[in-house]
Amino acid sequence: MRPLIELFDWTRASESDFAALNAFSNRMRAEATPEYPPLTLQETQAQFQNIPDFVEIRMWLIWNETHDQIVGLCSCNILNADHNQHLAQLGLEILPEARRQGLGSALLTKAVAMTEETGRRLLIAQTQSNVPAGEEFMQRIGAEVGLKMGSNQLEIDTLDRALLIRWLAKGDTLSETFEFGLWEGAYPEEDLETIATMHEVMNTTPLDDLEIEDMRWTPEQLRQMEAYFMQQGMERWTQYARHKASGKIAGYTEMFWKSTKPEYLNQGDTGVFPEFRGHGIGRYLKAKMMELMLERKPQAKFVRTGNAYSNAPMLKINEEMGFKPFRSTITWQIPLDKAKAYLSERH
Ligand SMILES: CC(C)(COP(=O)(O)OP(=O)(O)OC[C@H]1O[C@@H](n2cnc3c(N)ncnc32)[C@H](O)[C@@H]1OP(=O)(O)O)[C@@H](O)C(=O)NCCC(=O)NCCS
Repeated sequence: MRPLIELFDWTRASESDFAALNAFSNRMRAEATPEYPPLTLQETQAQFQNIPDFVEIRMWLIWNETHDQIVGLCSCNILNADHNQHLAQLGLEILPEARRQGLGSALLTKAVAMTEETGRRLLIAQTQSNVPAGEEFMQRIGAEVGLKMGSNQLEIDTLDRALLIRWLAKGDTLSETFEFGLWEGAYPEEDLETIATMHEVMNTTPLDDLEIEDMRWTPEQLRQMEAYFMQQGMERWTQYARHKASGKIAGYTEMFWKSTKPEYLNQGDTGVFPEFRGHGIGRYLKAKMMELMLERKPQAKFVRTGNAYSNAPMLKINEEMGFKPFRSTITWQIPLDKAKAYLSERH
């Protein structure tokens, strides 16, 4: 019997559709991140609210024959921005008991069609080391490794407090040249243009073989992304260093937290512009953030972060703080033509 693939229209989905999606997402989550509590129905629904208008997403579901259980999901999204107009992001998930029956590749045809229709030429997707089926699949379809990253975790109980104090002490000297500040929650309107420029430092992180162009977010896009993750119940803190003489942001570090996962803090971007490196700003910002989190979120037990294996300076700071590797992720890339060739050979 042909699998029943349906385009998921979340604007018309019923409560029971969302309940089925929530149950499916929690099955997949139990495999990939068993340490996290299940997603609530509200969290599942919130994913579809306040989606930035420059993000175009389509999602397809495979239902069982009685249409009461989802067995597979495919998402494809593209960014209608000034950069990376060659890219489409793929997400593909099949329940463990339904794998190796051709459902993953059946869903892939949908994402490939969208990629072609929207004029994109490269699909990217991520897999995790603790779910090896994903890597096997990506290899089979002809995808290539773009970037290997380690997920690193700090157990806050093991944090070296003396080291933190030493790093913070550097603040006295640094303050002669830099002004340090904190943005808590939404970015202030008057700094938004500066903050957009600040994010460009992330274009200097190693991307290995990934064919990704530099990203440049507009203030409006930043606001929309912010509204999206706040809708998900996420809180954010940004510690920054501003070069006093030029007024330029020299570097920043971000942290995220959500009440449904209270034990976990997620370290987002950390970046120092090349001209300001080598003065201890990265260490100082990270220490400042840690100090703040100990005060703001005493219930947190872990800090998680993802770092490219090739990012020696960031790894060094994290190792010094006590971060330990616990998982790895691969970002794969596959040209549209290669994915089409795989599918046509298969069918
Ligand atoms: C990746 C995933 C969606 C594949 O789904 P699937 O329904 O098992 O895939 P298919 O049955 O269509 O397999 C397609 C091809 O990959 C091969 N393949 C799939 N899983 C494999 C495995 N574990 N080992 C070896 N080959 C595998 C199949 O044999 C098939 O090859 P063929 O064309 O020669 O017949 C599924 O394993 C999954 O949900 N993994 C977790 C999420 C994930 O990592 N997603 C990928 C990135 S978004």
